[in-house]
Amino acid sequence: MKKLSITDLNLKNKRVLTRVDFNVPLDKKTGAITDDTRIRATLPTIKYILDKGGKAILMSHLGRPDGKVVPSMSLAPCAKRLNELLGKEVAFAPCCHGPEVKKLVEKMKDGDCLLLENLRFHPEEEANDANFAKQLAELGDVYVNDAFGTAHRAHASVEAVTKHFKECAAGFLMQKEIEYLSKALENPERPFAAILGGAKISGKIDVIKNLFDKVDLLLIGGGMMFTFYKAQGLEVGKSLVEADKIDLAKELLKEAKEKNKQLLLPVDCLIGEKLEEGAEKKVVKIEAIPSEWQGGDIGPETIKLFSERLKDARTVVWNGPLGVFEVKDFAKGTEAIAHSLAESTSKKATTIIGGGDTAAAVAKFGLEEKMSHVSTGGGASLEFLEGKTLPGVAALTDK
Ligand code: 3PG
Repeated sequence: MKKLSITDLNLKNKRVLTRVDFNVPLDKKTGAITDDTRIRATLPTIKYILDKGGKAILMSHLGRPDGKVVPSMSLAPCAKRLNELLGKEVAFAPCCHGPEVKKLVEKMKDGDCLLLENLRFHPEEEANDANFAKQLAELGDVYVNDAFGTAHRAHASVEAVTKHFKECAAGFLMQKEIEYLSKALENPERPFAAILGGAKISGKIDVIKNLFDKVDLLLIGGGMMFTFYKAQGLEVGKSLVEADKIDLAKELLKEAKEKNKQLLLPVDCLIGEKLEEGAEKKVVKIEAIPSEWQGGDIGPETIKLFSERLKDARTVVWNGPLGVFEVKDFAKGTEAIAHSLAESTSKKATTIIGGGDTAAAVAKFGLEEKMSHVSTGGGASLEFLEGKTLPGVAALTDK
């Protein structure tokens, strides 16, 4: 790790201003937290600050309130959950800056923890506003960023705030995320395989391009496979096709051939009259999708083929579900590949799961613990795999 780590800092008696990503899903009706993974993932950093005699001042966003106070997007439930997880009182500040918050910080003792209200209640946060960042910075002596999930956003609490500190360090979660993803991209144990799925090619194109030269094997599934088939002149019925990406898919297929790259597409798929629970469905070869049907998952032969090819891989990066896994009838392909990866992990291969939908799928099948690393960042892990520099990482102090 080329950046300063939290372990490089002296935290005793210090106000440790810490950016976390508590952007957790809430139940629309009750407002209860439905998945606290992101809060649990930052516990090692928070506990470390408190154990070392620092004062943990935590700041985060939740949702997209667009610079306005939206009570349903308050971070108060996160303070309560953190309190339960830490087994220790977590104070909650009704705002994230200003005299009232300063007073609360002044009252803190070493080993205390305070969570500030949603940063995005202020438009200045997303605008990366220098003055807002200065006010945030006044709350801390040192700065720690453990919000990998937000590292792709050049926002005030992520980027501009760092200008006010001599020492800006990565927390344990941030370090773990960067270490897993960079090792895969820069120095993977081979064979190195990538599995890319998800609905659309457009969201994944830069990942495909960046990974193309690095991987030994590229497996494509999910809705985007149909654009690749269309590019080969096949009829895909009513399956999702991005018409404006057909030429791009053609180019990628050509490039794969020229570079002798192993780009594997599904050989069969599960189609439905509708992609809904209980709808009429059947397995067909790719070239035999009837005009009124649409593809919803990879088929059994593909599951066998992909699993077989993944067996020897020593590093696997997976981004994007292979079918409509939210609908039980079309979840089999994603679930089977998740099990193949769990098996690989048990044979000491490194398995890395991108955040967002892929992480949600793995969690749904209860296999999170069976992977080497499940990223807490959807957009952030995607941009990392695209080869982009994340502003939140770049802003940390070099060692
Ligand atoms: C995420 O959930 O991906 C991060 O918390 C960033 O949220 P955003 O996409 O609203 O910026």
